[in-house]
Formats: sequence, C-alpha cells, structure tokens
Amino acid sequence: MNRYLLCITGASGVIYGYRTLQILSERFKVEAIVSSAGQTVLKEELGKGISDLKREFPSVEFYDERDLCAPVASGSRLTSYGAVLVVPCSTSTLASVACGVNSNLIHRVCEVALKERVKLVMLVREMPYSKIHLENMLRLTEAGAIILPASPGFYHHPESLEDMIDFVVGKVLDAVGVKHNLYKRWKEG
Ligand SMILES: Cc1cc2nc3c(=O)[nH]c(=O)nc-3n(C[C@H](O)[C@H](O)[C@H](O)COP(=O)(O)O)c2cc1C
Repeated sequence: MNRYLLCITGASGVIYGYRTLQILSERFKVEAIVSSAGQTVLKEELGKGISDLKREFPSVEFYDERDLCAPVASGSRLTSYGAVLVVPCSTSTLASVACGVNSNLIHRVCEVALKERVKLVMLVREMPYSKIHLENMLRLTEAGAIILPASPGFYHHPESLEDMIDFVVGKVLDAVGVKHNLYKRWKEG
C-alpha cells in the first residue's frame, strides 16, 4: 500500500492538493488527475498550469480526466492503492460520486474506490453548504467515504498561512494513516 491516487478538482483551495502532492510524492508512488476545472483554479490561485506540475513532480504519473481507459479506472488495479484522495473536492464532483454518475475519470475512480472498499477521502470546499451538499456528504459517508471539510483548526496556534494549510493536509494524511509532522497535536509538547 505504498501507492496513492490524488485527484484535484475545481474547488477553491487547490493549494491543499498541491501540498498533498508535495508530501506524498516524497515518500510514495503517486498518480494524479487534475480535472479541467481543477486546472482553471490551479492557474487562478497558484499561477501554475498542468505542465508546471508535471515538471515539478517528475515521479508523479498524471492522467487526463477524459482517459476512462487509464489503469486506475479498474478495480483490479485500484485495490492495491493505499487510498484515493480528492483534494480539494468540488460540490460538483461530490454530487456526481454521490449519484454514481461517471462523467470523468475522477468520478470513476471514486466509484471504484467505494465498491472495492479502498479508502476514499474527499476534502470538500464550499461555503455555505446547501441541503443538497449536506445530503450528498451524508450519502457518501454512509457509502464508506471519509468527508473532510477544508476547515483549519486553531488549537495548534498557527503562525502562518502555511501552518493552516499544513493542518488541513495533516488531517487528510491522518485519515489515510500516513505518518507526518505537519501540525502539532493537542497537548503535544
Ligand atoms: C476560481 C474558482 C473557484 C471555485 N471554487 C469552488 C469551490 O470552492 N467549491 C466548489 O464546489 N466549486 C467551486 N468552483 C466551481 C467549480 O470549479 C465547478 O463547479 C466545476 O464544474 C467543478 O468541476 P470538477 O468537479 O470536475 O472539478 C470554483 C470555480 C472557480 C473558477
């Protein structure tokens, strides 16, 4: 289980996905899918394109969201992965997965993760939530996904934006059992 699949969708907070990619790719084999909307937000919020990511993370294999024939689209492959992480997760991807509609490779890998009981973590970002968002989160929780809101804590006394980002990314890693020192735990010296 030293392999992870990271999906970046078009929610705000693409930095969470970027930081997760940094941390995981230092220690594990990582494959990634950045949705078309995810690429728009990547440009908007970090000023980077998908080619920048490919250059910065040469060990990471990137799949096109339209590539429904990618190896990870099959349960026969995905069962050997430690987890599928959707960081950040848009409410649109959330809704597609909650309804079992596969319009792209990200929806498909989430569906496969659920049916094969591979850990699925979805870092949802929207504010406020509508009843539909909340129902979709409940539906996916009941189906086995781990829903994490992109909401940093303050009990670790963050001193910078980086500290707040690392808190959220640390919680994502906690959810999949990856050890890290990204944030100071409660009552930790
Ligand atoms: C700059 C920007 C920020 C956005 N932020 C959010 C967000 O925080 N949450 C969300 O659910 N959608 C957000 N959207 C809208 C999604 O990108 C849009 O619903 C898109 O269809 C999602 O597609 P995807 O799930 O395939 O990535 C944002 C769009 C843009 C351009």
